[in-house]
Amino acid sequence: MNDQDARAGADLALPGLVHDLNNVFETISDAAELLAADERWRDLAGTLFRSVDRGRRIVGVYADQNRAGAELSEVVDRAETFLRDFLRHLAGAKIRVHRRIGRDHRLPGNAADWERVFMNLLLNAAQAMKGRDSGDIEVHSRIEDNRLVIEVIDNGPGIDESILPRIFTARFSTRSRHAGLGLHIVRTLVEANGASVTAANRESASGAVFTIRAPMA
Ligand SMILES: Nc1ncnc2c1ncn2[C@@H]1O[C@H](COP(=O)(O)OP(=O)(O)O)[C@@H](O)[C@H]1O
Ligand SMILES: [Mg+2]
Repeated sequence: MNDQDARAGADLALPGLVHDLNNVFETISDAAELLAADERWRDLAGTLFRSVDRGRRIVGVYADQNRAGAELSEVVDRAETFLRDFLRHLAGAKIRVHRRIGRDHRLPGNAADWERVFMNLLLNAAQAMKGRDSGDIEVHSRIEDNRLVIEVIDNGPGIDESILPRIFTARFSTRSRHAGLGLHIVRTLVEANGASVTAANRESASGAVFTIRAPMA
């Protein structure tokens, strides 16, 4: 392969991936359509439809939602629905999500990116509380110094101080069979949309706190 071919190949890598994923999404949608026709499986079909829709947003099929900013409460709704769908077929902890979000709080940039950010933060929080009877996640937002500050707080074990500096690094994970990409994706997307993210532990109880600071949309 000469240089030019290599470049052309690289340029088509992403559209090619999206193209093939779309065929996968279509197959799942068609199967879900069949399931939905049966009363007993309608609920499961709903999970599949939502998952496909989520996948399509992630790969950027819906161009209209890009670069227009996003309502924080809507983004958190979507991330929470993802968490419910994810946990649905897993027995175990009852995870509750509590929010204190400003009605008019908006995030700058790409709505699909922010959905991925909160999906990953909620998923990590839920996974940190695995093995318990129940767990609580809080999502708070406030305006501070003309910036939107959002906190995602859980009541899991928290993050060992010795690994705190490394958790946003790609492929860093303390969990077996986990890729260690979640927080790397979080930081990359947060920064791509002009914001920042930090991690810490709660002061008065056990648990982790992720804080995002974004310019006002
Ligand atoms: N809410 C949390 N509570 C405790 N530890 C966390 C939390 N979120 C992330 N971590 C730690 O950060 C590591 C990296 O997270 P992440 O990048 O999402 O990778 P993965 O979930 O694949 O392990 C996790 O393995 C875990 O040790
Ligand atoms: Mg993760």
